[in-house]
Amino acid sequence: MSETATPLTPLFTARQIQQRVRDLAAEISAATPPGATIHLVGVLTGGFVFLADLARAFAQPVTIDFVKGSSYRSGTTSSGGVTWSLEPGGVAGKDVLVVEDIVDTGTTLCALHERLLSDHPRSLRCVSLLDKPARRQRKVPVDFVGFVINDVFVVGYGLDHAEQYRQLPFIAALPEP
Ligand code: IMP
Repeated sequence: MSETATPLTPLFTARQIQQRVRDLAAEISAATPPGATIHLVGVLTGGFVFLADLARAFAQPVTIDFVKGSSYRSGTTSSGGVTWSLEPGGVAGKDVLVVEDIVDTGTTLCALHERLLSDHPRSLRCVSLLDKPARRQRKVPVDFVGFVINDVFVVGYGLDHAEQYRQLPFIAALPEP
């Protein structure tokens, strides 16, 4: 479906998202030692809008980095793995917060978690705007979740279908073709 087809109905409006992002920043701040710098590691491309809004909702200092990975399937198994076209920078001794757009199978987050842990951060937590638990294949730690959704394909607020819809200020379920 292209963006010129039937208009999409928001699943979460821009206003609902902005409120939830503010609440998430408050929850995360309350669970972080006062004055600590939070090192945000955004997962491209889908996480760029959420990270930009979340970063600006924090009162405390943040630093920002991005990673970009793509998952692949090894042989006939569905376990897969992830190759990084943009590698994580050094996180040793930092209070890291991974910022994901959506946790689906959990493959990306699982691989990123292992990768970051091997660099010995001081702490490692994850926030995902959306969580789609019905499709999970990997047990992954998601410390903060914006919205839990059913097994639907969603677009908007950074999330795409064939690179379209990322700029929408709301999130919508993409209708079946
Ligand atoms: P994973 O399966 O948890 O590794 O998720 C991999 C990536 O798939 C996510 O970071 C998203 O970019 C993408 N993805 C998963 N579900 C959706 C969806 O419903 N809409 C758009 N992208 C999705």
